[in-house]
Amino acid sequence: MKLPRNFFKPLAIGAPAPLRELPLTLERMIHFVPPHNEKVRARVPELIRQVDVVLGNLEDAVPADAKEAAREGFIAMARSCEFGSTGLWTRINALNSPWMLDDICEIVAAIGQKLDVIMLPKVEGAWDIRYLDQLLAQLEAKYAVKKPILIHAILETAEGVNNVGAIAAASPRMHGISLGPADLAASRAMKTTRVGGGHPDYKVLADAAPNAPDTPRLAFQQDLWHYTIAKMVDACAAAGIKPFYGPFGDFADSAACEAQFRNAFLLGCVGAWTLHPSQVPIAKRVFSPEPGEVAFAKKIIEAMPDGSGAVMIDGKMQDDATWKQAKVVVDLARLVAAKDPDMGARYGL
Ligand code: GLV
Ligand code: MG
Repeated sequence: MKLPRNFFKPLAIGAPAPLRELPLTLERMIHFVPPHNEKVRARVPELIRQVDVVLGNLEDAVPADAKEAAREGFIAMARSCEFGSTGLWTRINALNSPWMLDDICEIVAAIGQKLDVIMLPKVEGAWDIRYLDQLLAQLEAKYAVKKPILIHAILETAEGVNNVGAIAAASPRMHGISLGPADLAASRAMKTTRVGGGHPDYKVLADAAPNAPDTPRLAFQQDLWHYTIAKMVDACAAAGIKPFYGPFGDFADSAACEAQFRNAFLLGCVGAWTLHPSQVPIAKRVFSPEPGEVAFAKKIIEAMPDGSGAVMIDGKMQDDATWKQAKVVVDLARLVAAKDPDMGARYGL
């Protein structure tokens, strides 16, 4: 086991010290951009004003013969745009791929100063994080990068799910974890060809009526991802990092996308991936707390200024624990209000 004292030491001489606290940033949506597509790249300056994070995707969905073009396109995009408070991330290729080493070396050399987070796919265990951690420290030292580049893992293999607690706690460089339902379904041999969301055959059937066995029975579709999201949220919360829902592949079904995002939000996730522009307003809506919920949370905090004791509000019991729940909602609302004055006005903040 690594000694606690050494946990926050830079892994290379000249690399910046690891962060003790994650930056307080709003990351309701991680918007995926294919950087080899010049037309999409040209729209990035406009996109920066609409989303919380822009991610240049180098991994799956980029054809093998476009991998170098995607990497070069990402570097060009990072150099030419001003990102302000919008995050700049990339999803590199997997550790066992022929592209990963050049992805990381070329990107850190060219735009390491501007890059906030590297998303690492197909993470199986803490060893994957430690390898990237060490390599990033060496490159940060070599190119005099001042601020540590953070790591975000995708949870998309059965082995990764088994090891999710260790992955979350592997390094102070860890930013968060996203659920990758497509690769995870394949890794587990789940029988779904969808990218996220439910499945009509995964359901609970109500009992048959005893005297009328042939009458139609109610059926309730269940959430295929509940167990994994909850496990990921616990691992992230325990390690002080952020959990995210990943992709939702049916761009035409905005209601199902919204339901999937909302389930993840309610369970503790802070954001989701947006693969299509139509999903951006959905993520914005879902991952910003409801004004009614914020108003009630404010009432709880005002009624218990020091966060202790017990009061009744609108017939509901409040105590130290509900005060903490209220604080989660109000802190998030403040973060949203700082970025979005219209929402700030709706929250009365
Ligand atoms: C994302 O990468 C997924 O596999 O769902
Ligand atoms: Mg994947």
